[in-house]
Amino acid sequence: MSILQLDVKPEQRNLIASNAKSIAEAYFNKDAWFRAIYADNIPVGFVMISDSSLKYKSNPNHKPSYFLWRFMIDAKFQGKGYGKDAMTLVINHVRNRPYAKELLLSHSKSDGNAGEFYKKCGFEYTGREISDELLMSLKW
Ligand SMILES: CC(C)(COP(=O)(O)OP(=O)(O)OC[C@H]1O[C@@H](n2cnc3c(N)ncnc32)[C@H](O)[C@@H]1OP(=O)(O)O)[C@@H](O)C(=O)NCCC(=O)NCCS
Repeated sequence: MSILQLDVKPEQRNLIASNAKSIAEAYFNKDAWFRAIYADNIPVGFVMISDSSLKYKSNPNHKPSYFLWRFMIDAKFQGKGYGKDAMTLVINHVRNRPYAKELLLSHSKSDGNAGEFYKKCGFEYTGREISDELLMSLKW
């Protein structure tokens, strides 16, 4: 199965862009870092972060920021712990990036949103919103 075929449940499609759109965006954004999520040899999901240290690596004065841009597990593979395991790997990746002290994300307010999932991964609400989405943060 290709990464482009991975899809969320029909009722979740309003929560996240398709992987095709995300991968196209990634090629036009220098801060995009994106990976497929595999369980053994099987692709089960997709993650993309905005890592501003990639975009501004030639600017020594830039203070990098890290933002979870897309995160999905295919409908067939949800509820098996893959999301949480993959998030642990993503957090470890970000922790090792330059000057990384925080990973931010925002999620939709719509029913079925991933807020509870993110709380279980250690994120906390900041009380702020961005583009009508709730902003969460994980600091270390
Ligand atoms: C959110 C998502 C990535 C979770 O992936 P997953 O592999 O199903 O999650 P896990 O099986 O690792 O679940 C980990 C825990 O979070 C809980 N959880 C997962 N999704 C949840 C949801 N939408 N609402 C409430 N709890 C949720 C699980 O019950 C589990 O709890 P437990 O540890 O107490 O048993 C997946 O449901 C998804 O792709 N959703 C659609 C896309 C989306 O909304 N992405 C986020 C955009 S901001």
